[in-house]
Amino acid sequence: MKFLAASLMIVLTPFVCSGKKTLNIVPYPQKVEMGTGSFGMKGAPVFISGSLDKMSAKAAEEFAGRLSTVTGKKNDIIKEQTKKCISFDTDASLAREAYTINVERNGVRISASSYNGFLYAIQTIKQMLPAEIYGTECAKGARWKLPCVSISDKPRFAYRGMHLDCARHFFSVEEVKKYLDIMSVYKLNVFHWHLTDDQGWRIEIKKYPKLTEIGAYRNGTMAGHDFTSNDGIRYGGFYTQEEIKDVIKYAAGLGITIIPEIDLPGHMAAALASYPEFGCTGGPYEVWTRWGISKNVLCPGKEASFKFIEDVLTEVMDLFPSEYIHIGGDECPKDSWKECPDCQKRIKELGLKSDKNHSAEQYLQNYVTARVQKFVNDHGKKIIGWDEILEGNPAPGATIMSWRGVKGGIQAANMGFDAIMTPNKYVYFDYLQSKEKDKEPLAIGGYLPVDSVYAYEPYNGLKESARKYIIGVQANLWTEYIATNAHLEYNLLPRLAALSEVQWCNSENKNWARFKASLKHQTRIYDTMGYVYCKDVFGIIGLPGQERKASAK
Ligand code: ACM
Ligand code: ZN
Repeated sequence: MKFLAASLMIVLTPFVCSGKKTLNIVPYPQKVEMGTGSFGMKGAPVFISGSLDKMSAKAAEEFAGRLSTVTGKKNDIIKEQTKKCISFDTDASLAREAYTINVERNGVRISASSYNGFLYAIQTIKQMLPAEIYGTECAKGARWKLPCVSISDKPRFAYRGMHLDCARHFFSVEEVKKYLDIMSVYKLNVFHWHLTDDQGWRIEIKKYPKLTEIGAYRNGTMAGHDFTSNDGIRYGGFYTQEEIKDVIKYAAGLGITIIPEIDLPGHMAAALASYPEFGCTGGPYEVWTRWGISKNVLCPGKEASFKFIEDVLTEVMDLFPSEYIHIGGDECPKDSWKECPDCQKRIKELGLKSDKNHSAEQYLQNYVTARVQKFVNDHGKKIIGWDEILEGNPAPGATIMSWRGVKGGIQAANMGFDAIMTPNKYVYFDYLQSKEKDKEPLAIGGYLPVDSVYAYEPYNGLKESARKYIIGVQANLWTEYIATNAHLEYNLLPRLAALSEVQWCNSENKNWARFKASLKHQTRIYDTMGYVYCKDVFGIIGLPGQERKASAK
């Protein structure tokens, strides 16, 4: 944790927008009514109603503990509600993730009906306090007062996700937890964990040990954008099932569900390097050392391939309590299926024929999706797939993740499928944040500044009756060109803050000027919590140590 003595003097400065005072809270609450005066949090007793569930009561206690540490004065937990206290109480009439906060001169009343509701109320209160509340050091001189305000809040979308590709580059358990920590600051509730790809298999599967003995390591990595190069450095890593359980538990404590992704039938070169018998030619295959899409994909002509997938998914479903399992489905080249006698036999047996819309091989992928979906459904869970699974006829009950722009999500919603919007144009956080490519760290390309993320409206292009199928929004962070945690955080922040307003705020509550003004406070939070972030909105570009002034726009 970094502690800046200078920031001790910083007080909460509300942004004034068309005559109305607003607060530095991100995502901004749905309803805020400012009062007059303030309540001093330093040393105020904390009442936790017996109606709170155990986890919520623990979160309230932890908040009291944190407050005591940073203010230097103990906040006692009290059994009877008194006048001048911070009170946590259940209000069963509130929706699951909703909360209310009432700050008056003589006390603070916080209400919610669920764990996530209480967590979000606490996050909102923390954002109204000096950023030192996110640290662990005493900041006696800071102004530990809340402005009098009445807040009534709930999210616009139920699904508020952030993805991380741990296959192209591996991030440690501690780094993943830190990623989850900042997601929780912004009230996200889903972590989409991309665990397998051509360049590495990252999850221990007990029945197939070679997946991690062989598939978790590659013989070097291409350098920069040179697809012919190899740095010659063996690279890899994986999560044991015990580590995964630990991360799932940690995320649950932050109100975050983890959805694992096992990408299939494409993006499987690392799996095939481990078990070549599940490929069309039988190999040998290698864990890929360069980016792009390998043509070595799972062979659906062989019954053994399905047994393999089902065994893997059984262990995955046993590990992850999430109701959804992501089965990938993106970018599956059909070259090997066209040449493979087993695949062609399967196509014939199933009576699959090319038509004006799709090839027989595309319909074969549809068959794979449907079989895997049935298996997952039979285990009481649901599938999510990238928008390619719409090619052919997906089975009812699949959820579509729209990544090639918004059209997949719109098509899915029009067909009555639930959809999650992750359009590359607005929420691919591997894209560059400024137009000055030479000043930015290495990137895949693209251009996605924080204001473009902020501007995204998920209902655009959707007719009224289809809107209910958009269950939420997620940003994706692919890591082909991101090898370090500092670079990862640079790509994440502050775009994650902008994403959170797309996910949380009703469109009439979004306001770029108000959000931009609050970024200064957000960066104090990042500094206190020890995150790297992009300072492009403040005219600086580059990773720490390489920061340069942006050219005037
Ligand atoms: C994707 O970006 N290939 C889903
Ligand atoms: Zn085959």
